[in-house]
Amino acid sequence: MKYSIIFIFLLMALTGCKDSPNAKPAATETGVSATDPDKVVKSEIPYQDKGMEYAMATQAALGKALQSKIQEGGIQEAIGFCKVEALPITDSLSGKFGVEISRITDKPRNPVNAANAEEMKFISKIKSELGTGQPPEALVVRQGDDTNFYYPILTNNMCLKCHGSPEDDIQPRVLGAIAELYPQDQATGYGNNQFRGLWKVSFKGE
Ligand code: HEC
Repeated sequence: MKYSIIFIFLLMALTGCKDSPNAKPAATETGVSATDPDKVVKSEIPYQDKGMEYAMATQAALGKALQSKIQEGGIQEAIGFCKVEALPITDSLSGKFGVEISRITDKPRNPVNAANAEEMKFISKIKSELGTGQPPEALVVRQGDDTNFYYPILTNNMCLKCHGSPEDDIQPRVLGAIAELYPQDQATGYGNNQFRGLWKVSFKGE
């Protein structure tokens, strides 16, 4: 019973939330004011489309793997699985598509996923936009030799089992597993439908 509820949440995560594969990102025209305007690429629709396609394919692969792991061994088991498999899954899809796909955030669980200084500026702009009720938007930015696509990752109820309130949402055993594997974890305290981070698809040398 417990697992079937989680399963429904996962289905919602994969199909129901705003960043589902069918959602078309709104075109970014203003970019980020904190950044040099020349670096913000306008009308880069091919990068938006490809970036969105690759990010959503990766989201689906991660979601599917997480779902079967939770069904097999429960949430606690799934934490260990994420620790070992989340980065290899994104890496393998990066290889398949010939880009670099990652998830970055201002509050990392795995320090490898921390946003850089410029990305922190995007994040605070995006957070304040989402805070005023604007829909998530894709951002395409030229950084050095690369063109980078970003798209917000929002939470749903299922995420709270591992990213929600330590008192109310996360089981003590799960908290223990997180503390052991991620001693510097910052990725708890989220509510439903909150900004959690960004998909980043980096088109190297493009
Ligand atoms: C079973 C527990 C679990 C669930 C459920 C879960 N996560 Fe995570 N999440 C993790 C773990 C563990 C990591 C660290 C992965 C790693 O080491 O690469 C992580 C990492 C992330 C990251 C990468 C940034 C970071 O902090 O390292 C994002 C973004 C993220 N999760 C979003 C979500 C969203 C959105 C959901 C719901 C759709 C979700 N997670 C559900 C355990 C979970």
